[in-house]
Amino acid sequence: MAEAALPIRTVLVFGAGGQVGFELLRAAWTPGLRPVGLTRAAGDVTDPAAVAAAIAAHRPALVVNASAYTAVDKAESEPEPAFAVNRHGPANLARACADAGVPLIHISTDYVFDGASKATPWREDDPVAPQGVYAASKLAGEEAVRDLLPADHVILRTAWVFGAHGHNFVKTMLRLARERDELRVVADQRGCPTPAAGIADAIAAIARLRLAPAPAEAHRWTPGTFHYAGAPATSWHGFAERIVDRAAERIGRRPPVRAIATADFPTPAKRPANSVLDTALITRTYGIAPADWEAALDRMLDEILDHSQTVRAGA
Ligand SMILES: NC(=O)c1ccc[n+]([C@@H]2O[C@H](COP(=O)([O-])OP(=O)(O)OC[C@H]3O[C@@H](n4cnc5c(N)ncnc54)[C@H](OP(=O)(O)O)[C@@H]3O)[C@@H](O)[C@H]2O)c1
Repeated sequence: MAEAALPIRTVLVFGAGGQVGFELLRAAWTPGLRPVGLTRAAGDVTDPAAVAAAIAAHRPALVVNASAYTAVDKAESEPEPAFAVNRHGPANLARACADAGVPLIHISTDYVFDGASKATPWREDDPVAPQGVYAASKLAGEEAVRDLLPADHVILRTAWVFGAHGHNFVKTMLRLARERDELRVVADQRGCPTPAAGIADAIAAIARLRLAPAPAEAHRWTPGTFHYAGAPATSWHGFAERIVDRAAERIGRRPPVRAIATADFPTPAKRPANSVLDTALITRTYGIAPADWEAALDRMLDEILDHSQTVRAGA
């Protein structure tokens, strides 16, 4: 007898045009789950009617919010759009998910902590103290999700995101390594570089446990707030050294990377000195280990540098 076809259930991704959104659409989802991505044009999270209409149209089994206003410095001079996307956006999604009876996975940030009052990695239950507009808007988004969808959400706090698609530190360092004879990079801020693909895999694993757990599963869907980031922790300077080292042969240059202090590189938004996230809780609860960012960096460089060489060779 032919096997019955598995019903396909939709995981609806808002903010599909971003680094994490892009990886969510190409992640390995468990059979029976299919990601559908909405860019800002197709699903503006600041518009409650658009959010409700998208959820009514796609009838998802789960929603992921990968949208965000991520211009950390610009947010200092334009708080309204930052709060519109980072606070009202998740609030609109959480309300619509509550109405539709659908779980929500939302992404937040290490910036909810002050980055200074503790020298060890931040745990989920450490006191929050956002230091700028972006940070405050992201914390307000977390609070809205907890208030509006208390029993059926997962919030993943992450940090220092990089991937093949979109803007990030890796791409900035590659550009500077091609243009400059020396790079100057902050060495007194520590954090966890995190591959966007790792975040997508973690979300796919959590979604699977909510929607399609295997019998006798060792872990189960547990609502709440979790830290997910790459390991090992490093400084921006250490991250830059690694990027330039691994790309040197392919870009034909290896400029020195000079260590500077935060005070030498003033920015409108204050940056946390200690951004390192403790990821033990997500490992214990979901069996999800921190991402190996060095291996992920190699994969990203293979993808973007080998591709650009092919394009150049064929041009
Ligand atoms: N990047 C990091 O280093 C970092 C660190 C910690 C936490 N996070 C968090 O990780 C998550 C994913 O970040 P990411 O790096 O993937 O961000 P990203 O690359 O900046 O992508 C964010 C996406 O959200 C979209 N968006 C903006 N406003 C929107 C709206 N009103 N409605 C729908 N979509 C909208 C953007 O579209 P447009 O391109 O049209 O603007 C963009 O495609 C965010 O929650 C972020 O706060 C990021």
